[in-house]
Amino acid sequence: MHAKPETAATTDWDRRGLPAWTYRNRAFFDLEMAELMLNHWQLVGHVSDIADAGDYLTFDMGNERALVLRGKDGEVRAFSNMCRHRGSRVVTEDSGHCRHALVCPFHGWVYNFDGTLRNAAQPTSFPPLDKVEFGLSPLECEIWNGLVFIRFRPGPQPSLADVMAPFAAEIGLYAGEDLVCSTGSWSNLSPVNWKSVRDVDNEGYHVAMAHPALQDLYGSNYHDEPMNRGISRSVGIYNAHGGRRWSVRHYLRLQQEKPHLPDTLRKAWLYWGLFPNTVIAATPESFQFYQDIPVSPGKTLVRSRVYHRRVEDRQTRLSRYLAYRIDRDTAAEDVQLTIWSDESMKSSAFKGFFLSDLEKGVRAHHDHIRARLPVATLEAEPAAADLASLNAAMLGKGGPGA
Ligand code: FES
Ligand SMILES: [Fe+2]
Repeated sequence: MHAKPETAATTDWDRRGLPAWTYRNRAFFDLEMAELMLNHWQLVGHVSDIADAGDYLTFDMGNERALVLRGKDGEVRAFSNMCRHRGSRVVTEDSGHCRHALVCPFHGWVYNFDGTLRNAAQPTSFPPLDKVEFGLSPLECEIWNGLVFIRFRPGPQPSLADVMAPFAAEIGLYAGEDLVCSTGSWSNLSPVNWKSVRDVDNEGYHVAMAHPALQDLYGSNYHDEPMNRGISRSVGIYNAHGGRRWSVRHYLRLQQEKPHLPDTLRKAWLYWGLFPNTVIAATPESFQFYQDIPVSPGKTLVRSRVYHRRVEDRQTRLSRYLAYRIDRDTAAEDVQLTIWSDESMKSSAFKGFFLSDLEKGVRAHHDHIRARLPVATLEAEPAAADLASLNAAMLGKGGPGA
């Protein structure tokens, strides 16, 4: 995401980013998974992705795996995608449909859509099995504005609705149940630490140099509101005289009245960052989210799902296609930037970030990480064996534990 230049640089803030070791240290990565990822809300998809009873989405993160499923009663529920017999995945695809029940592919235990056990295969080989006790383990699930969030473990955040509250009305202009998935969804396994993806995305200082299409669209009218209490907002308002590139030129030409949007948003792209690893974005024609799923200290799966209104006219569809083209080019440019940023973390020559006032969004995200993981304030890399206990001790010493 991408701040209007201030007239003079401020001098009262620490311009260093997190120390380089936090981008490559396995013990720190394990702490991040436990303290930032698995216990914070994760966005899995949209209710329209699982419109019918038996439709499901899966979501893997670290050693955990989730299954989100619509029941015959219309309810959406989340479970561990793990059979209660010997732990196999119960469903194996990213998404799909089960006709009558979930059948484990290992030995054939059968589960109802509400997660209860229907039958074990060859049940006489077991003592009687309680249908609930041996049902799929439920996970926390919250549906907000049509978006399906899960949480693998209880965490410091209140309900997802509380986190989103500062921008609920605005996001509500674009989100809701009346969306369907578009063809522009993508995923990319990138050879970088997840924070390098966030660092690039959390500032717009690079737009003028690295993103010609975005610069053409809204480069001189971009503004960041850095993350506060787990959520940030950025907005780019179309340039008055943009259109040097054909995609931007035609996109701007196709703009039409947007009665559902207030004047301030009719010519704007918006981004809301959700701590720690998710961004929700909207253009007048489309709605999307993208998120960084850490795989290892040096590998991150970045995935995006794009949605549009169920009913749209031809002009909106064309606009959406052009917005997708601009966004696709931008995403590819960002992949390269994240690789260059991340590889510096392994070099003995790297002396750390020195952030511009335009990069306060990077700082705010790092501050959120430091609040949960104060060990990241140490410039010197701690011994792996001490890292978790050191962090616990620093939190116990009155470190900010929010
Ligand atoms: S692991 Fe699922 S039936 Fe055996
Ligand atoms: Fe970028």
